[in-house]
Amino acid sequence: MIIAIDGEASTGKSTQAKKIAKRLNINYRDSGAYYRAITLYLIRNQINPKETLGQDLFSKIDISQKFESDSFSIFLNGEDVTSKIRGHKVSVNVSEYAKKPEIRNFVYSLLRKSSKLNSIVVDGREIGTVVFPDADYKFFLYAIPEIRAQRRHKEINDETVKIESIEREIKERDDIDSTREIAPLKKAEDAYGIDVSYLAIDQVFEEILEKITF
Ligand code: DC
Repeated sequence: MIIAIDGEASTGKSTQAKKIAKRLNINYRDSGAYYRAITLYLIRNQINPKETLGQDLFSKIDISQKFESDSFSIFLNGEDVTSKIRGHKVSVNVSEYAKKPEIRNFVYSLLRKSSKLNSIVVDGREIGTVVFPDADYKFFLYAIPEIRAQRRHKEINDETVKIESIEREIKERDDIDSTREIAPLKKAEDAYGIDVSYLAIDQVFEEILEKITF
């Protein structure tokens, strides 16, 4: 079984995907975390997003994800980079790298490989449209930017960071993600859309669970 959770930035996709993985006892893959880990690798190696990336480069990048007892971790060539990939530098650069077809194809192959043997729930932007168009269940979460910025602000928990600048960043990211030529952020026609602006985490979760039948 494959469950796709797509949607806008900061709508709680990964929170929902993890809850589903736990409840249904299936694997979880965070597609954004793959893009972030690759971005971290490329920044560290001073490879700029304008360069064309050869296959030899990808053979040097080994990424694995683990979701165990409620805790998600991601490893880049054996190093635990779970918190490093959430840093500011990666966050502001990831959309530029995620536009590159070489990088996207690499991530798609990792995700498809993960789905071969086990049921999975994957969160992302184009999981239901491009990566797994035949997914058993597809959801698309969206919310007004102001509310997403408030949520991110709370998550960052740093009073020196202004909500307005987070909102600006979110809108910029949405803009890059939804206007790019390859795999833009958009709801699959057969995805079930949920406006999460005024819903609590558990309300969204219940709505999703109601749709999933065995
Ligand atoms: O979900 P996130 O914020 O961790 O994603 C980081 C970036 O990666 C986001 O700006 C867009 C990109 N991304 C993507 O292009 N496709 C995905 N399936 C997931 C993320």
